[in-house]
Amino acid sequence: MQLERILQSHGFGTRKACRAMIRHQRVAIAGTIHEDPFAEIATDGLVFTVDGSDWPYCEFASVVLNKPAGYECSRKPQHHPSVLELLPLPLRERGVQPIGRLDEDTTGLLLITDDGQLNHQLSSGKRKVPKVYLATTKHPLDQEQLDHLLAGVLLADEIEPVVAVAAEKIDDHHLRLTLTEGKYHQVKRMVAAVGNRVEALHREALGELSLPADLQPGQWRWLTPADFVLLGVTR
Ligand code: URA
Repeated sequence: MQLERILQSHGFGTRKACRAMIRHQRVAIAGTIHEDPFAEIATDGLVFTVDGSDWPYCEFASVVLNKPAGYECSRKPQHHPSVLELLPLPLRERGVQPIGRLDEDTTGLLLITDDGQLNHQLSSGKRKVPKVYLATTKHPLDQEQLDHLLAGVLLADEIEPVVAVAAEKIDDHHLRLTLTEGKYHQVKRMVAAVGNRVEALHREALGELSLPADLQPGQWRWLTPADFVLLGVTR
């Protein structure tokens, strides 16, 4: 593919803008500056560098973010900045969006992609992808609350009870809850329905993919082939 088209497809602006970047010696491959915007470049395994930052060539952009509190998962946020602001501009320009939503005050694992099929696969209720949350509760947890969460609770505006597939008391005020649906404020509403209250909420895992331990709040990284295996999707 022509170098300027590669840059354009990766969110670096119009073809004209990408051509200018290349001609201004801002683009390198394997340590060598490439000045010809029309050079044909093999895209398989390609990593190109723009202004010193590496970009893997990828048909779709999919990343995992450690979401900090104080960010909304909407493209048009109302009260707080969007999580998308934590990503570099070329990624945002590709039209990436979060897979499912976390509340503004929820922290932890959030996937962001421009791959519509992946988004659908992971957010579709039919696939029942487990989501693991660590909730800090206001009141001490007791066995009755755990049993109730596992047996199912009826939330306002729902016809069917929603059940937790796992509910583990870590200590008096910490609950690890696994859900397979993604209803609005589901953890907070379920915990409230059993007579407690969520004071803080963190998503630890999606499918078998845990939040990478070395990813600080606000940091992101590309999803790897191994991550897709852990998510149970083929790519
Ligand atoms: N459940 C909630 O209540 N909030 C979230 O952010 C995610 C799940």
